[in-house]
Formats: sequence, structure tokens, C-alpha cells
Amino acid sequence: MPDRVRITDVAPRDGLQNEPGVITTADKARLVEMIARTGVDEIEVSSFVSPRWIPQLGDAADLFARLADVKPQHVSFSALVPNEQGLSAALGVNGRAGFLLIDKVSVFTAASETFSRRNTNATIAETLARFVPVAREAHRADMAVRAYISCVVACPFEGPIAPARVAEVAIRLLDLDGVAELDLGDTIGAATPDSIAAMIDAVRTTLDAHGSDATITVHLHDTFGRAPACIEKALLLGVRSFDGSIAGLGGCPYASTNERRAPGNIATDALVRTIERAGYETGVDHEQLTEAAAFARSIVDGSRDREPEADA
Ligand code: HMG
Ligand code: MG
Repeated sequence: MPDRVRITDVAPRDGLQNEPGVITTADKARLVEMIARTGVDEIEVSSFVSPRWIPQLGDAADLFARLADVKPQHVSFSALVPNEQGLSAALGVNGRAGFLLIDKVSVFTAASETFSRRNTNATIAETLARFVPVAREAHRADMAVRAYISCVVACPFEGPIAPARVAEVAIRLLDLDGVAELDLGDTIGAATPDSIAAMIDAVRTTLDAHGSDATITVHLHDTFGRAPACIEKALLLGVRSFDGSIAGLGGCPYASTNERRAPGNIATDALVRTIERAGYETGVDHEQLTEAAAFARSIVDGSRDREPEADA
């Protein structure tokens, strides 16, 4: 039996947070339903962040409410949460649904101080302090906790990031209650197979030294077309969990510079093909993937001509 690799589709969150146009909540719900039909293991549905910072995802609670009756058993739903206010919104969603509609919350920090401040108005240490009550309360409410580290290879503002810095942040995150998954984000798609391997190695060595069996997930943006080669390398190093984004949508608006808009994630179909070519299983249906990607492109293209008021 080939090894099974876990796939999370982050398009509704990472993809849509970077789109300039307004996508209606109804279209987002339909996109999530179509992604669920592909057979991915998890969908990152939205974020409970400040709507001033990310207006595109200001409808997170409404979106989850629409999904309460249609959530399939086989798929987990997750959402980004930066602080206690975000967690309380996520708990409210589950409370109103009466079940774990949101299975997992994802906290997020960075291996770059500059990116951390730009993205969350906080130093790395301040983000970690915010996560202490968030992780504890999420764990108490039976939600899993994923912890993202951004800029694991390079930062758009600071340049290359040493693997040891990523490992230091990783250990601090694993000290939090309930964090059993680290998601290593190559935010600007700078990784090469060698640099991703060095970073994974440093994180793995540190986890082993601390006796941690946390899952390592790899989250790649695909600026230079090297993401598939990095995935092959990560598979060889034992990574069995990856993020992709339908139609390759994605990018953190706070990773954009004046010269370059933040790049999209690796497309889920490219991710799945790379993994299957390497001899692993994903359980993902290629036809459903093609349909979901076509729908994702249609709502993004349609939104570009829509006035912001149209969704009010
Ligand atoms: P702040 O301005 O320092 O927050 O932002 P504050 O605590 O001073 O509060 C200011 C206002 O925000 C208040 O509202 C709060 O109520 C509100 P006001 O009184 O002014 O009307 N507020 C919130 N509203 C809703 N939900 C909340 C929340 N918290 C405060 N949770 C904050 C700090 C963290 C909130 C802000 O910086 C923020 O929302 N940042 C999020 C940025 C973001 O979502 N970036 C993209 C995701 S990360 C990413 O894409 C990378 C990743 O893909 C991995 C990779 O590729 O590397 C994950
Ligand atoms: Mg990302």
C-alpha cells in the first residue's frame, strides 16, 4: 500500500484574502462545497482576523453558518485565528452550530520580525504570548490547533532566513497547549529543494531533541515554479502533509512589496499530481478538482469587475 499524504486546500482563505474584488458569501460557500467533493482532507475556510486588515474575509461567521448543514463527514474545516477575539468568534460559530463545525483553528506567526509586525502588528514574542490563551481555550473546546510559521526560507523584507530561526520559533509553538501540527510557510515562494530540505531538517532535528511527534505540514507559494521539486524533496524527507490552493489562488497581502504582488500557493492539482507521481496516495478525485478549479477561476474573474458595494 502506498503511503497516504494529507492534503489541505487553503484557497477559500489564502486564495481569497488576496483578491481585490468582492466574492459573495454564497459563492464562497459553493466553492467550499465543491472543494469538499474533491476528497481533500481539510479545507481552510476563512479567517477570524480584523476586517480592517483583511476585508475580503469579513464574512467568516456568515460563511460558516451557511456551511453548517452541508459539511461532509470526511472533511475537516479550519480557520485562522490571530488572538482571543478571533478565537471567541470561532467558538461562537461552533456554539451556534451545536457541533464542531470548525474542527481546527490555526494560529500564525513568522520567522521574520519585520513580517510579523507587518502582518499582525506584533513582534514574534508578542504573537506567541497571544497564542497562549488561544491554544489553551481551543484545546479545551476540542478543536485541534495548527501553528503556522511564515517566511521559513525567506522574508520579502529581510531576505533569507536561517533554518535555526525557524526551529527556534517551532519549539516555542510546541510549548503551547494542544499544538500538534506545525505548518511551515514559504510565504513568497523562494524555496529551492536544498533550502527547503535544510529548513525541514533543522525543524525535525529540534523536534526530535524535544521528543515531539508533531505533524509537519509544508505550505508552498509557487513564484518560480520550484514548488513541485520542493514537494518531492519534502516527501523524501518524510513529510506527509501539504497545503495547496485550488487554481493556485493565494498570497498574503502583507507579503506584497511595491515591486511584486504576493504570489499564489501551489495549485492543488499540481500538488496532487506531484505527490501521486512520486508514488503516494492522496484520495483526491481529479475530475472534481478540475470542476472546483474552474469555478474558483470564474468567481475570481467575475469579482474583478464588481463594485465593492455590490455585496453589501
Ligand atoms: P491591531 O490593529 O493591532 O489589533 O491588529 P487591536 O487588538 O489593536 O484591535 C484593533 C481593532 O481590530 C479593534 O477594532 C478590534 O476589535 C479589531 P476597532 O475597535 O478599531 O473597530 N480586532 C479584530 N476584529 C476581528 N477579529 C479579530 C480582531 N482582533 C482585533 N480577531 C490583528 C492585530 C492581529 C487583529 C491584525 O493585525 C490582523 O487582523 N492581522 C491579520 C493579517 C492576516 O490575516 N494576514 C494574512 C494571513 S497570514 C498568511 O497569509 C501567511 C500564511 O498563509 C502562511 C504563509 O504563506 O507563510 C498563513
Ligand atoms: Mg500562505
